[in-house]
Amino acid sequence: MAVNLKSRDFLKELDFTKRELMYLLDLSRDLKRAHYTGTEQPMLKGKNVALIFEKASTRTRCAFEVGAQQQGANVTYLGPEGSHIGHKESIEDTGKVLSRFYDGIEFRGFSHSSVEELAAASDVPVWNGLTDEWHPTQMLADFLTMKEASGGKPIEEISYTYMGDARSNMGNSLLIMGAIMGADVRIASPKHLWPSEEVRAAAAARAEESGARVLLTDDPQEALPGSDFVSTDVWVSMGEPEDVWNERIKLLSPYQVNQAALDTTGNRNVKFLHCLPAFHDLNTEIGRDVAEKTGMTNGLEVTTDVFKSGANIAFDEAENRLHTIKAIMVGTIGNQ
Ligand code: CP
Ligand code: NVA
Repeated sequence: MAVNLKSRDFLKELDFTKRELMYLLDLSRDLKRAHYTGTEQPMLKGKNVALIFEKASTRTRCAFEVGAQQQGANVTYLGPEGSHIGHKESIEDTGKVLSRFYDGIEFRGFSHSSVEELAAASDVPVWNGLTDEWHPTQMLADFLTMKEASGGKPIEEISYTYMGDARSNMGNSLLIMGAIMGADVRIASPKHLWPSEEVRAAAAARAEESGARVLLTDDPQEALPGSDFVSTDVWVSMGEPEDVWNERIKLLSPYQVNQAALDTTGNRNVKFLHCLPAFHDLNTEIGRDVAEKTGMTNGLEVTTDVFKSGANIAFDEAENRLHTIKAIMVGTIGNQ
């Protein structure tokens, strides 16, 4: 049977088979090629999509807006203050109302249960644009980028190490996505910032099916050797209180992606990934504030030199948010 994702929600990686995720990666590649060759067909003509953001966004919002427009759809953006959702109207009622207007709904919020609730109440596909627990649209971009940068190497032969806060959306998603896809996944993080037992058990079960190699360790020296890619994320995520910075810096400094970490891979062609935004210099308010308090003037989760180096493919990864998010919309609501 051919893969058909029409009418499906896109909430977390665990809801999908390897074959379905591969289908979305192939569709992303095809849409990217069509865009570059001027042969893109508008498969979302006459469609309307709603974008609900309870948290800030640059890439995800812009990828949904531009992707929808390039495919012929109209977009409504509802920001943190822009609708009644959560303040005056329940998520359930909002989902029921928006389903009468729209063909698809993107939601970025806090607890993952909110996006599940929205999807349960909606008659149209709901796409998770990030929750505290999962960042599935980012995973398609990360895997498309790794595939492209590996020059045709099958995903099953790709190895990557994620360094840093592993119990947040990026850590959970990179662990699970790699386990589903059959990759060589290494997570290097202090033990109490590891993904929950439930997530680790799900990763083990999916790795058993796919043949993925999964390593969780608190020792970067154990994780890094042989990695093709090294990935990280901010040390304090959206929605966390500011007063966790001090503790996080203490805990996560040994997991900073610096040149020594890249050298430990032993791979001269190792590439660096980051979902962005990143604290890699003093050109942000938070970057300056933390540097003033701690003396860390050369970046936080990644150093300035690594970020500025040829190893950094985070901007290719950012562009791939557009092509992969377009694939999610076309795959679930497109006029094919
Ligand atoms: N990577 C990512 O989700 O970026 P935004 O927060 O800018 O959407
Ligand atoms: N873990 C980060 C990811 C940002 C794209 C956050 O949730 O803020």
